[in-house]
This record gives sequence, C-alpha cells and structure tokens, in this order.
Amino acid sequence: MGHTSNLSVSGRTSAHDDFVDTSSSTPVINRYSRRVSVCAEAFNPDEDEEDTEPRVVHPKTDEQRCRLQEACKDILIFKNLDQEQLSQVLDAMFERRVEPQEHVIDQGDDGDNFYVIERGLYDIFVARDGQSRCVGRYDNHGSFGELALMYNTPRAATIVATTDGALWGLDRVTFRRIILKNNAKKRKMYEIFVESVPILKSLEPSERMKIVDVIGEKNYKDGDRIIAQGDKADCFYIVESGEVKIMMKSKTKSGQESNQEVEITRCKRGQYFGELALVTNKPRAASAYAVEDVKCLVMDVQAFERLLGPCMDIMKRNITHYEEQLVALFGSSMDLRDPGK
Ligand code: CMP
Ligand code: CMP
Repeated sequence: MGHTSNLSVSGRTSAHDDFVDTSSSTPVINRYSRRVSVCAEAFNPDEDEEDTEPRVVHPKTDEQRCRLQEACKDILIFKNLDQEQLSQVLDAMFERRVEPQEHVIDQGDDGDNFYVIERGLYDIFVARDGQSRCVGRYDNHGSFGELALMYNTPRAATIVATTDGALWGLDRVTFRRIILKNNAKKRKMYEIFVESVPILKSLEPSERMKIVDVIGEKNYKDGDRIIAQGDKADCFYIVESGEVKIMMKSKTKSGQESNQEVEITRCKRGQYFGELALVTNKPRAASAYAVEDVKCLVMDVQAFERLLGPCMDIMKRNITHYEEQLVALFGSSMDLRDPGK
C-alpha cells in the first residue's frame, strides 16, 4: 500500500512518548492502546479520548494540502465536523495512488482505512450467495470504506479501481476517534427530525440511525441553486428547514426547451427532492432553488441505494404524481421514468 512514510505524531499532552506506526496499512498504537482486536473494539462516545490518544499527522506540502482540501470539500460525513476536528482529520490523511484493476478494498476483510477520492473510477462489487455483482461506480469523487470502521463489521463490498487513481486515506483509529464521536452527536441532533420525515416512516429506528450516520448537512442562501436541471445526479436531499422551489424549463410549441423556468412545486421541512434522477438514472429533471435560508440533509447515491430500498416503492409511485403535475402545467405529457433518455 503506497502511502507516504514521512510521518509525525503530535499530541496536546505528553503524547510525544507515544508511537503511531502508519508505515503498515493498519496503524498500530504501541502505548495507551485499548485495541485488543478489530472485533473487540467498542466505542464509547461519552469517553473523551482526545487527551490520551496520540494524533496521527502526515506532513503535507502546500500543493498536497490544496488537493486534499479540494477532494474533501463535499465529503458528507465531514460536513458536521468543527474546525478543529476537520483539521485533525486532514492532518491524519495520507495519499495513496492506485492502478487499474487494483483492489482498494476486498469484501470480508477487516477495515483499515476510510478513503476519499481525488480522482479515478472505482467499481463497487457486492457478493451475495456466491455471486459477485457490480452495484455501482464512483466517478472521480465521493468516499468509501466507512461502514467497517463505523460498525466494526467486515468490509461490505469490494472496491476496484478501473483507471489510475488518487485517494486520500484516513486510518481507522483517527476515523473512529473523530467521526464516531461526531456521529453520536449527530444521532442526538437529528433523531427526532428523522422520525418525523414521512418517506422514512417505513424504516426501522436502527435503519434511520444508519442514515443519520452517513448524511451531511448543507446550508444554502436565498436564491442558491441546489440542483441544476440536466446535470448528472449524485445526491438525495431532505429539507430540514426553509423552503426549496422546484423549477422546470418549459417546453416551447416545437418541443424545444425554453430558457423560461416555471415553478412546479415547493418542498418544506421533512419533504424530499432529488430522488428522481437517482431512481431513473437520468439527468436532473428540474432545478431546485433555496427560498431564503435553507438547510438540507444530503445523502450520496450509494447510501441512497443501500439504505432507502424499503422506501423505493413510495418514491416510484410518486413519479406518477410528478407526471400529472407536468401535464397540468405544460399541457403535454412527459415520460419521467424511461431510463437514459
Ligand atoms: P466498507 O464496508 O467499510 O467497505 C466497502 C465500502 O463500499 C463500504 O464501506 C461502503 O463505503 C462502500 N459501498 C458502496 N456501495 C455499497 C453497497 N451497496 N453495499 C455495501 N457497501 C457499499
Ligand atoms: P431530480 O430529477 O433528481 O431533480 C429535480 C427534482 O425535482 C426531482 O428529482 C424531484 O425530486 C423534484 N420534482 C418535484 N416535482 C417534480 C415534477 N413534477 N417533475 C419532476 N421533478 C419534480
């Protein structure tokens, strides 16, 4: 595993005596280590580990730091971190280059690192009943490898690079110390809200909490475009506060798209949008704009497909309602379902 070896460790207390060896893919903490084995490890978010755990720091050039910040700016599980937590995460990340056909993660393995994609294409394979199936692909952005670290489970999928690629890794110990602690806070913050979201009603409480673990909160100002009609889709949104206006370019008599946008509907607290393109595998059917200040909970397409299976029937049924809305507005029928058109 080719990551940088120029490692240093910083700590706020006497952690300089500690030693974190990240020259192997799994960091080994030699002192103050509570890790017995991967599966025995438990996390207690109420325990403040920050003063006893050493910090992992991989020094970076300004150029590397810039690339890292760019790769991490839309990573959803980093969205709720405070400034200090984010800077500890960025300090701990290390660069890893991969080649076509390289397996970054193998299903069934223990989890060592979490990865953020800087560039490259990566196929996702899930094996079930002895059959391996490609269930999706990361295309030059996103992240993977959080599940085994969050839930102490074996890797749930195999990730294979199909091009040359560049990744940023975050070791298991730092991931758990910072991201899990933050997730405990997120669960408390969003528990009541996600229970009230109609589309999530059919899920078990534990399934709703798994959604909270992987979502990120995004804030928008009045007039901000959240989704652009025609764009490739990679996220799903639930409105947490404020109002979102869905606008569509109207069709002219000759069937051409005009530049004039028509308001179709508004989404308020607890309502969702941005599912259609993910379900149909088509570009965004409409644009979405913030009306005054808006907060949304955002989920990436991989989590959407993995966690919202039980809600899919309701979402698909709602497409008929969208089509009726469009007939009422534009007079002509529109096929929103046909994939790839
Ligand atoms: P992890 O189980 O740690 O390692 C494999 C990763 O693949 C997993 O975390 C997720 O980040 C990612 N992944 C993407 N799609 C899926 C899927 N459908 N099922 C399981 N894991 C997935
Ligand atoms: P998507 O196509 O991903 O992005 C635009 C979103 O607008 C779409 O998903 C729906 O969630 C939402 N929307 C609301 N009403 C309609 C409608 N009548 N037709 C299409 N999209 C709609």
